[in-house]
Amino acid sequence: GTPADYQAEDATIISGVAESNHLGYTGTGFVNYDNVTGSAVEFTVTTAAAGPANAVFRFANGTTTNRPMDISVNGTKVATGVAFGGTGNWDTWQTVTVPVTLPAGTSRIKATATTANGGPNVDKLTL
Ligand code: GCU
Ligand code: CA
Ligand code: CA
Repeated sequence: GTPADYQAEDATIISGVAESNHLGYTGTGFVNYDNVTGSAVEFTVTTAAAGPANAVFRFANGTTTNRPMDISVNGTKVATGVAFGGTGNWDTWQTVTVPVTLPAGTSRIKATATTANGGPNVDKLTL
């Protein structure tokens, strides 16, 4: 169906904070992941039909160091060490697309930082 936006600042934040002190976000802000391993955002999403979908994460990383994250769906890791590379500065946003398979109804999609740098700043998930 038509993709829907799920704002990170409205999702469940595990070790991070909703902020709005950089430009270019959508919604009311973004999540600044704490710069620690295991910081995460968990989105609750709804799909009408079971099957494949593209999970599109919009993020900024103002450093030159990759901030990889693991992606899990309903508690099962479906992608390991997905690269969230530098975007030039904290006001510049890019997207990373992760293919997922979802059941019909409600699912939890979680993006967890795997290094001590934490995750990037995450604006939203589109799915
Ligand atoms: C800066 C930036 C934050 C970012 C942080 C980081 O402090 O303002 O938005 O999250 O760097 O390195 O993670
Ligand atoms: Ca951070
Ligand atoms: Ca947002």
